[in-house]
Amino acid sequence: MAKTFYITTPIFYPNAKLHLGHAYTTTVSDILARYQRLVGNEVYFLTGSDENTQKMIDAARKEGKDPIIFLDEIVDKFASLFGELNISYDQFIRTTDQQKHWPGAQALWQKLVAAGDIYKKEYEGLYCVGHEAFVTEKDLVDGKCPDHGVEPQFLKEENYFFKLSKYTNVIKEKIESDEFSVVPESRKNEILSLLNEGLQDVSFSRPRKADWPQSLGIPVPGDDTQVMYVWCDALANYITALGYGQGGELFAKFWPAQVHVMGKDILRFHAAIWPAMLLSAGVPLPKSLLVHGFITSGGKKMSKTLGNVIDPEELLAEYGTDAVRYYLARHISPFEDGDITREAFKDAYNADLANGLGNLAARVMQLAQTHLENGTHPEAAPFPKEYAEALENFEVHKALGFVFEQVGALDQKITQTEPFKVVKTDAAAGKKIIFELTQELYTIARLLGPFTPAVSEALKQAIVENKKPENLFPRKD
Ligand code: MSP
Repeated sequence: MAKTFYITTPIFYPNAKLHLGHAYTTTVSDILARYQRLVGNEVYFLTGSDENTQKMIDAARKEGKDPIIFLDEIVDKFASLFGELNISYDQFIRTTDQQKHWPGAQALWQKLVAAGDIYKKEYEGLYCVGHEAFVTEKDLVDGKCPDHGVEPQFLKEENYFFKLSKYTNVIKEKIESDEFSVVPESRKNEILSLLNEGLQDVSFSRPRKADWPQSLGIPVPGDDTQVMYVWCDALANYITALGYGQGGELFAKFWPAQVHVMGKDILRFHAAIWPAMLLSAGVPLPKSLLVHGFITSGGKKMSKTLGNVIDPEELLAEYGTDAVRYYLARHISPFEDGDITREAFKDAYNADLANGLGNLAARVMQLAQTHLENGTHPEAAPFPKEYAEALENFEVHKALGFVFEQVGALDQKITQTEPFKVVKTDAAAGKKIIFELTQELYTIARLLGPFTPAVSEALKQAIVENKKPENLFPRKD
């Protein structure tokens, strides 16, 4: 029976261009979404942008632009990058959306108030604009935030707080029992040890600054001197996009989410604050979180000063969509940190795609076109267990590794069976081998569907029409 499958990416900060790390989160999510569609489930795939932040206003001012115009421009670039990556999202939610997002976030806030979980308190501390969060002295190196290289500001303000502490134990139980599952196991353990220390209540709003444009920052219901802080604003996107608080049919149909995909830096928010908010509001928890690692380049964090930043646009322009999707899916595990360099990318491209898959497809289809007068009538068999299980468990790299084992095996089969020789001495036997090779190539093409959708289609079409596919992956020197 068809199930619903709601999958989300984090919403991205539009203060700068997206880099390969962001492309990774989104591509992994897309692969999972495409797989679920292929097995017949009804999928809803959400992505978006996190816009109500000080960082954003600062970035716009730096360029001398009105924040909303600045945002529109960057969000257009996000959409164009996601287009080039062939990301099959159903909706792009923006947190400046006042029709859908703001009323939904306000409805959620009011639920938390009704549950008695919001209270007002004076707060003072050091605030890092880069993190959009309060930091403590012990987080600093030489008085500066080590991640952003800037001194935090001292802030004293009256805020609304959310009683996060109240939910520690319930969340712990749900994570332990996998009712709310955190994948992989290492991240589950990380969050459980944090929960064992207990959770502190969190600041949930900020005073609205005089210079904040009205179009940014969601007013706290009943107190528009305050705007919602990131938690009730950004995290709420996952339900506001579905029309939460507005009688949304999508919400009724797709919530709870099957999986929120994210990087390890935002695990705590998603595994502690978000479920607590949902519990407080009486909304079911998402089924799971997939927490991937970070992509480094040459073993180092990508940074402009090191000159090792890899721009996804650059790789896309040189190698094409499916080659980039391939590398991210195959050579970076979603469960650990991964690395990429231009050299490693080129080597993998030439070995696996140009010489591997591309060459195999050309060989098989050359034989088919020459010897199979009636072409082939490929059949769609169920997906192999190993492949399907890997994708159900979010092990994208393992599933694609399995496909490439089939590529290798098929190559070997040609070498061993030598159909090009057999066909000269025993035409029927030769044709039979070629027929089988073509069927197996078709299976490979289908298995590639979630990963390299355009190449998968091109290959299937070539097989059905019994012609050679165009050169899928030209060798790069
Ligand atoms: N806006 C918040 C998320 C709010 S979700 C309710 C945010 N945005 S972000 O633009 O900074 O990051 C978006 C995603 O990209 C996060 O999942 C983050 O982990 C991921 N990555 C950022 N740099 C990365 C790498 N170098 N490698 C892999 N993923 C990384 O956080």
